[in-house]
Amino acid sequence: MSDLIKKAIFPAAGLGTRFLPATKASPKEMLPIVDKPMIQYGVEEAISCKINEIVIITGKHKRNIEDHFDYAFELEAKLKKSGKKNLINEINRLSKVKIAYIRQGYALGLGHAISCAKPFVNNEPFAVILSDDIIDTGDTLLKDMVALYKKLRSPILALESVPVSEIHRYGVIGGVKEWDGVYRINELVEKPSAETAPSDLAIIGRYILTPDIFEILERSRPGKGGEIQLTDAIATLLKQRPVYGYLFKGKRYDAGDKLGYLKATVDFALKNPELSGQFSAYLMEVAKKLKH
Ligand code: G1P
Repeated sequence: MSDLIKKAIFPAAGLGTRFLPATKASPKEMLPIVDKPMIQYGVEEAISCKINEIVIITGKHKRNIEDHFDYAFELEAKLKKSGKKNLINEINRLSKVKIAYIRQGYALGLGHAISCAKPFVNNEPFAVILSDDIIDTGDTLLKDMVALYKKLRSPILALESVPVSEIHRYGVIGGVKEWDGVYRINELVEKPSAETAPSDLAIIGRYILTPDIFEILERSRPGKGGEIQLTDAIATLLKQRPVYGYLFKGKRYDAGDKLGYLKATVDFALKNPELSGQFSAYLMEVAKKLKH
């Protein structure tokens, strides 16, 4: 098996219920953070790790994801006429990336979504990117995981230490620290209560997995919330081979949650050279009003 990670799976067939009604007829992954849809941040992150083969698991109402990563000829012609060359480059920048789309008929859970990508993955290790977990553009989480995979040749899950009050929203690991930032996992629980969680180390949306996960996923029964859970399948994989956790200490936004989405929007707007000056002045005005 190759030690190069060339492929990434983006599950994007969820119903996005936390953002209704915005997600009634259009996918959560297309909600913009400033001027790019959420999923584009993840795709750019994959490309920055030299992962150039991408499969997006889509579902109903997801066709505009496909349109987004395609050439936009009409728009291009209009922009050409009005001399907006920079925008042409920007809208077509990602259209050369190889992206395959697989439709997940029923949203049966994250584990099921990953299993739909089996024909695309063959016998290679691959990355999973959950695009509503947005990693700050200055951080190198996935790159570090890819490098670690070359050393360990075992599945690796990105971890973050989260407050007890939030633990019930995540898959949580129990494990032993192997060296700084790297844990050998010995237990995995999907969305435990604070009392039963094995630690405060939550799985965040970056995984490097090996193809032996597919056989387990195919046999998986519904778990938490009646869904086929990736966490449960990895818990079974643990009995067959070592699985590691990599502790991320940078900045992640849970943009699948309204507050996290707003935080990402504010921080990315502040980093945007066209907006930062006026936007920070506006935020200061707002902050002043809130103090009163
Ligand atoms: C999924 C996984 C969970 C993980 C989380 C990270 O949950 O099932 O284990 O901790 O992503 O964002 P979801 O957010 O889809 O409910």
